[in-house]
Amino acid sequence: MKSKKVCFIILFILLSLTKLYSQNKIETSEIAEKMQWFSDAKLGIFIHTGIYAVNGIGESWSFHNKRISYSDYMKQLDGFTLKNYDPAKWADIIKETGAQYAVITTKHHDGVSMYDTKMNNLSIVKVTPAKRDMIKPFFEELRKRNIKCGAYYSLIDWSFNDYPGFLKDSSRYKIENDYKRWNRFRDFFQGQINELAKNYNPDLWWFDGDWEHNAEEWESQKIKKIITTYNPKAIINGRLQGYGDYDTPEQNFPVTRPKYNWWELCMTSNDSWGYQPDTAWKTPYEIITIFIDAVSNGGNLLLDMGPREDGSIPEEQLFIFSELGNWNKKNGEAIFSTVGGLPQGHFYGPSTISKDSTTLYLFLHANVSGNIMLKGLINKIEDIQVVGTNVHLTPKIVGKISWSSVPGLVYIDVPENTKDKYVTVLKLKLDKPLKLYRGQGGFN
Ligand code: GLC
Repeated sequence: MKSKKVCFIILFILLSLTKLYSQNKIETSEIAEKMQWFSDAKLGIFIHTGIYAVNGIGESWSFHNKRISYSDYMKQLDGFTLKNYDPAKWADIIKETGAQYAVITTKHHDGVSMYDTKMNNLSIVKVTPAKRDMIKPFFEELRKRNIKCGAYYSLIDWSFNDYPGFLKDSSRYKIENDYKRWNRFRDFFQGQINELAKNYNPDLWWFDGDWEHNAEEWESQKIKKIITTYNPKAIINGRLQGYGDYDTPEQNFPVTRPKYNWWELCMTSNDSWGYQPDTAWKTPYEIITIFIDAVSNGGNLLLDMGPREDGSIPEEQLFIFSELGNWNKKNGEAIFSTVGGLPQGHFYGPSTISKDSTTLYLFLHANVSGNIMLKGLINKIEDIQVVGTNVHLTPKIVGKISWSSVPGLVYIDVPENTKDKYVTVLKLKLDKPLKLYRGQGGFN
């Protein structure tokens, strides 16, 4: 009798485990399916548009950190015109870079909505000379060009009177002392999320500022539910206190490959997110090498631009975009729809691999020519081509010992005249899916 009971219990546990396992598997594959476009995208353009462009000062932080008084900051509302805003042109420029998605600020920490919110009056539609919703036509133009639409939304709202935080060193109240007030704010910001989901249907949500409160206070689970009820396929960035789909290292470059399945490096083109008369522009070479580095480590680059208050884009920014776009036009096959490259140790540089694993792309930074070396490649190389040219190269296999299974070193002589202006790419066609030797030499 007793052993029968034990058997039942074991059977029950086994059945529950199998159920859990298969459910888990379905969920994992559903997420992978949902994330597919994102992992193929590689490049996104981030847009920080807001009234901070009027004076060219730090977005929201400038009043929070008391560099400018709140009332002076808000005076910028009167100078936000969008008089040269051309969403179709923006979308064309983005398309030309090769980016597959764009993320735009629908509201930054200053609480000024860039779209037609019905939840309060603080929007560029109601209180600036621009008098228009800039998100709607932009999303329409992006969608015409098959570019995915991302909505940046700041959970923090330093202007909303019932939001507890305000200036760096002064808060309005503590949530635990005034739940009523917090609930008013909660209804407000969740209402905004609801209207964005309903009326704009973003493919991707880029939350920001979650650090000021925990998941319970934000009700992150509920937010996710609101979003996925409207669009089950919507992707959410990792700033929703544990309810996001991917990680967002910001301005800081991973040295070792991040362990997350999906990640995106967000980075400014100069030193500021919003428009500032900033001279610290990154060069196209720097942008392209950073981009390749992210992709070779299995991530995306979300490259920021800060347009002016009239909607025009600074020349320096346009130059970066066009150089990046030209490079992508020539070399894009080594980037888009590939997966992260070789583990460290095989090649002293970035690399990517085709999805079927039979093509390996090696990236050679600007001044590399002459002999490059590849270690531990078990495959035979069928062909080597300098991407974007008709030049084919022949490798030399060095140090292959006939009685050992350890592969020899592959040396490839890259002629000086095949060099790309920024980064040259070699395409290695392999006989079979990539196979690497990861041993320590010796007799096997
Ligand atoms: C930070 C800043 C914000 C900026 C964002 C972009 O979270 O608070 O100003 O918009 O980074 O990633």
